[in-house]
Amino acid sequence: MKKTLISKMDPENIDIELLKKYAGIIRDGGTVIFPTETVYGLGANALDEQAAEKIYRAKGRPSDNPLIVHICDIAQLDMLTDSVGEKARLVMERFWPGPVTLIFSKKKTVPYATTGGLDTVAVRMPAHPIALGLIRESGVPIAAPSANISGRPSPTRGEHVAEQMDGRVDGIILGGDCKVGVESTVIDLRGDVPVILRPGGLSSEELEAVVGRVETDPAIKSADTGAAPLAPGMKYTHYSPDAQVYVVKGSGEEAARIINRLVEDNAKKGIVCGVICTSQNSKYYDAPVKLELGYDSADAARNIFSILIEMDKRGVHVVYSESLEEKGLGAAVMNRLVKSAGYRFIEIQED
Ligand code: TXA
Ligand code: MG
Repeated sequence: MKKTLISKMDPENIDIELLKKYAGIIRDGGTVIFPTETVYGLGANALDEQAAEKIYRAKGRPSDNPLIVHICDIAQLDMLTDSVGEKARLVMERFWPGPVTLIFSKKKTVPYATTGGLDTVAVRMPAHPIALGLIRESGVPIAAPSANISGRPSPTRGEHVAEQMDGRVDGIILGGDCKVGVESTVIDLRGDVPVILRPGGLSSEELEAVVGRVETDPAIKSADTGAAPLAPGMKYTHYSPDAQVYVVKGSGEEAARIINRLVEDNAKKGIVCGVICTSQNSKYYDAPVKLELGYDSADAARNIFSILIEMDKRGVHVVYSESLEEKGLGAAVMNRLVKSAGYRFIEIQED
C-alpha cells in the first residue's frame, strides 16, 4: 500500500502551490490521478518508461494496452511525433482542448511502455484547468488512462476515485465531477478515410462536419466479429460492475413491461434488481433501485459510469438498462453500456 497524497482542488480557483507539489510527483517519476472533462486520469511522465510502467501496475492493466498521452499546448506535440497530417490539424484546431484523441506515428523519444509496444502514439489535449495546469507545471506530457482498476467502470466523480485508488498511486487531485463523463473519442486520421477506434465524448457527426465521412472500426460493434479491434484496449472486458448488466433493446412503456416482470420474478428468488432508464421513462418502472440517466444523451454520458458504480454500492445483483438511440453522444453511452453488459441483450418480443 502506498501513502497517497489526496487533496481537493477547485478547478475555478486553482491553488498553484498545491498543484506544483503534484507536478513534482510527476517529474520525480510518480503517479497522480487528476480530473479531466471526460473521466479522471491516472497520470505519469509519458516519456519515462519506468513511470509509465507504474500506471499499468496501479491499474492492473495488461501491458499491451496503450496509454493516451496528454499535452497542454500544441508545441508539446513535437516531443511525440513529427508527422501531423492536414486532417489532424483541422481536428486539433477545431476541437482541442477537448474530448478527442488522435493517433500519430511516434518519435523514438516515446517509450514503448507508453504505447503498449506500438509504433503509434495516441495524443489529446484535455479541456480541464487542473489537467492542463498539472501538465504545464510538470513540464512533460502526461500518459493517463482512465483512473479505474482495469475492467471496472471509469470514475467520473471524486468520491469514486478515492474509494478505488487510495493506496495505489502517489497522489490524487479531487476536482469535482467530470462534465463530459465518457472517455474521449479515439480517431485515426492517417488514412484516406478517418476511422473511429473508440466512440467517445466527441460525436462522429461533429467530426464528420470537419473532416468528411468517417468510419467506425467494425470490430468494436459486437462481442466477436472475428477481427481484432484497432484500439487494443477495446478487446478487453470493460466497465463491469459486480452486478450482472442486461441491455434491453428498447425503451419506454414496452420495455418497462418486460423489465418490471423480470424484476418481480427475481425478487421472489431474493435477487435484487436495479433499473437504468431515462428520466422521461422513470415513471414506468417499478424496481427497488432505479437510477436515471437524465433527459438527453449528454446527461446520460455524464451519469452512466457513476450509475454503474452506484449499483454495486447499493448491493444490486442484476441491472436492466434501457437503450439509447446511437446518435451523437448516445453512441458512446451505448458502447459503454453494452460492454458493461458483456454484450448481453434482452429482446422485446411482440405479444
Ligand atoms: O478521455 C480519455 O481518453 C481518458 C482521459 C483520462 O483522458 N483516458 C482514457 O484512456 O480513456 P484509456 O487508457 O482508458 O483508453 C485509451 C484507449 C484504449 O482503448 C487504447 O487501446 C486506445 O485508446 N489507444 C491508445 N493508444 C493507441 C494507439 N497508439 N493505437 C490505437 N489505440 C490506442
Ligand atoms: Mg479506460
